[in-house]
Amino acid sequence: MTERFAGKIAVVTGAGCVGPGWGNGRAIAIGLAQEGATVIGLDRDPASMTETAERIAAAGGRFEPLTLNVTDAAAIARTVAAIVARHGRIDVLVNNVGGSAPGGPVEMAEETWDLQIDTNLKSVFLMLKHVLPVMEAQASGAVVNMASTSGIRWTGAAQVAYAASKAGVIQLSRVVAVQYAAKGIRVNTVVPGQMHTPMVEVRLAGQRAGGDVQALVAQRLSRIPVGFAGDGRDTANAVLFLASDEARFITGTELVVDGGMSVRCG
Ligand SMILES: NC(=O)c1ccc[n+]([C@@H]2O[C@H](COP(=O)([O-])OP(=O)(O)OC[C@H]3O[C@@H](n4cnc5c(N)ncnc54)[C@H](O)[C@@H]3O)[C@@H](O)[C@H]2O)c1
Repeated sequence: MTERFAGKIAVVTGAGCVGPGWGNGRAIAIGLAQEGATVIGLDRDPASMTETAERIAAAGGRFEPLTLNVTDAAAIARTVAAIVARHGRIDVLVNNVGGSAPGGPVEMAEETWDLQIDTNLKSVFLMLKHVLPVMEAQASGAVVNMASTSGIRWTGAAQVAYAASKAGVIQLSRVVAVQYAAKGIRVNTVVPGQMHTPMVEVRLAGQRAGGDVQALVAQRLSRIPVGFAGDGRDTANAVLFLASDEARFITGTELVVDGGMSVRCG
């Protein structure tokens, strides 16, 4: 085990998970803590961070869970101020919160569209609005935003708001990366493919396969050239690399974690 994040303060949004096991946010929080960071986990559902906290404690790491809805601008301002008052800095920000809703423009309710954009894209804008000044004042920082292969490809279902918001996360990240490059702040995006996280069982199977988890898993697997589905730990490995000093010359780009899915045609 390396100590790539020794002495660093890392903030991870969505550090819980919709079920037990290796969700992306949970795996990222655990990975950062295992490598020496003090991790502040932000989630609107505090109970979802219990397993995250237990795993980090078992590994001897430092984890501070805080309840926050990342679509609430005033609450974000208060929470970031509280983190800075306590720790004095924020070295790493991982904007992980997100989730999909099915449907094209005709089927999708306008309220669903708005909620998707708020949850997946505006949340990133709001977190950046409050954390970038902290990083600028310390002249260093690394941001990793979570997109999805749905933001760059058709991935098997019409989920227009999810696709559009994740495409937005990618371009938002590129623009902010250039804007802040000379200030010592790097901004990159991880683009996971069809990971086998608890979300597949808990949410997607009901949405897409009438509750038939095995059928959905088989369908997702059939699209992945390497022949297996990664999980949250694979996403976390990419996030940790981009957040670490090993990636000091990497900014404004995307790391796709999808077992080759997005480069295969048909
Ligand atoms: N699992 C996959 O196959 C997959 C693929 C591509 C991208 N992603 C992306 O990965 C990210 C999350 O993955 P995960 O495994 O951690 O998902 P998850 O759904 O298991 O966990 C997300 C956490 O975010 C929290 N959350 C949701 N809305 C929130 C809000 N408004 N404010 C604060 N917290 C909120 C939930 O309570 C939950 O604990 C998302 O951005 C998702 O789009 C996942």
